Amino acid sequence: MNATQEQLKVKFQQAMGAAFGAEYAETDPILVSTNNPKFGDYQANVSLSLGKKLGQQPRAIALAILEKLDVSDICEPPEIAGPGFINLKLKTTYLEAQLNAIQSDPRLGIAPTKNPKRVIVDYPSPNIAKEMHVGHLRPAVIGDCISRILEFVGDDVLRISHVGDWGTPFGMLIAYLQTEYPEALTTDETLDLGDLSSFYRQAKKRFDTDEEFKEVARQAVVQLQAGDERTLLAWKIVCQLSSRAYQVIYNLMGIAPFIERGESFYNALLPEVVEELDKLRLLVENQGAKCVFLEGFTNRDGEPLPLIVQKSDGGYNYAATDLAAIRYRVKVDKAQRVIYPVGAEQTNHFAQIFQVGRRAGWITDNIEFVHAPFGLVLGEDGQKLKTRSGDAVRLQDLLDGAIAKVRADLEKRLQEDKREETEDFINKVAEVVGVSAVKYADLSQNRTSSYIFSYDKMLALQGNTAPYMLYAYARIQGISRKGDINFEQLGNAKVLLQHETEITLAKHILQLDEVISAIEQDLLPNRLCEYLFQLSQKFNVFYDRDRGVRVLDAEEPLRTSRLVLCDLTAKTLKLGLSLLGIEVLERM
Ligand code: ARG
Repeated sequence: MNATQEQLKVKFQQAMGAAFGAEYAETDPILVSTNNPKFGDYQANVSLSLGKKLGQQPRAIALAILEKLDVSDICEPPEIAGPGFINLKLKTTYLEAQLNAIQSDPRLGIAPTKNPKRVIVDYPSPNIAKEMHVGHLRPAVIGDCISRILEFVGDDVLRISHVGDWGTPFGMLIAYLQTEYPEALTTDETLDLGDLSSFYRQAKKRFDTDEEFKEVARQAVVQLQAGDERTLLAWKIVCQLSSRAYQVIYNLMGIAPFIERGESFYNALLPEVVEELDKLRLLVENQGAKCVFLEGFTNRDGEPLPLIVQKSDGGYNYAATDLAAIRYRVKVDKAQRVIYPVGAEQTNHFAQIFQVGRRAGWITDNIEFVHAPFGLVLGEDGQKLKTRSGDAVRLQDLLDGAIAKVRADLEKRLQEDKREETEDFINKVAEVVGVSAVKYADLSQNRTSSYIFSYDKMLALQGNTAPYMLYAYARIQGISRKGDINFEQLGNAKVLLQHETEITLAKHILQLDEVISAIEQDLLPNRLCEYLFQLSQKFNVFYDRDRGVRVLDAEEPLRTSRLVLCDLTAKTLKLGLSLLGIEVLERM
């Protein structure tokens, strides 16, 4: 709900209290944005439910409310429509005042939340010791965006990467390092993850074909878990190399800094988890393993499904570590909301560990644990994106591909226009547009669905793409250059809304806070993309000589007023894109 809706809500509640008695001063007027401008901007739907409750016709209720309602400072006279909806149309003078009020506010009038929460966003949480591949794209991009939005809302956001830094794959890798490259144990400078990833593949190959090596790898896991120093050192080297290589890509992608608190962090806490679950009588021994029998989950034979917390050999698994993490996040981090942007294939895993967390009393009613699932990145064939040889595509290659395409396109354009630009400029534009295109293509999809990765689509200059949005921003900066105007010096020039396209644009600018509060709830960044796309389109209509208005060659005071609208559009684009993790370019 935005500030306007909140004001309207208060006024409605006063009116309902006056019309039906004090006990109705708390009733929700059920104010929603109308999708059709014909019905105004907002619609109050309360008359229908209230009518039922009071045994009166909804229209009579609506009339009674209107009798007491004074919204004349915000709206045109309200109208009753259909069975009893109350339609509200914002006054132009109100819109003008709102725009003037946000003009020099970096938050564009969006007040921080009154109830800031301690939030943990668990991302990007990759399994390290593999080279980054396409599967690492979505958690990074979506987790980063959600964190940015909640931070903007005013929450205290802790970004924690629950890296997969423990377990069997490391045994294999450690064994391979120890046997083939013992020098790696004395220096960590000579290897980069490129090497490490081919090590990984070779180690895996050996693991799969060489029984003796398999045993050595198994021993390495045992030694690792037993805390053997040399093995721990090898493991640490692998982790550091991996993290460092990952960080290079996260930097290129503009992923904000996060804390790395991997699975290994919880090792020492696992016995406590088992103990506590046992004390709570949740733990059942099943074929030697310690399990919690889940409610609502059954196996093929319809029997209750166990969640294994400790295996019969004493080892722990992914679920156990996540239980320890839940407990730690509640008890030590004091989190009130914990968000896991993780692939949809882990839906059951999260439902199960959250259930155990609740039954253990760690997750209480005032704490929200949510899995924010996402779909897959697909190739043009509709299958999981793969290289020709069937491997997962390297994330670096995916980004480099986009950057190279933008660069080629830009160089061609420069040549055609006989435009001279520095190498630095070309590099910067190619990188920003290329990376943004990949991120935006991901964020603009409803995260729960899978999408087809297509350079052509994501780099298109028309449509809901990063290049389109970045051009819209740069184009507005172009207006300031062309007119030799410093947007920052427009001061508090009065905004005047006369033309239909100005009003439409103004209303849209003022709707950003509604979009942000919706995302705060449902964690769907595509809402913001859609909003920004519509903003650019509405701006283009406003700025179109035929359909819209003149700007630079308009008479004063309209000229300045329209320049303020241009500036506000640019600022809204910039803020919105920054919440998506996308930086703007003044020129491109
Ligand atoms: N490392 C896991 C994977 O790549 C994702 C971890 C998600 N976070 C968590 N707390 N389970 O599948």
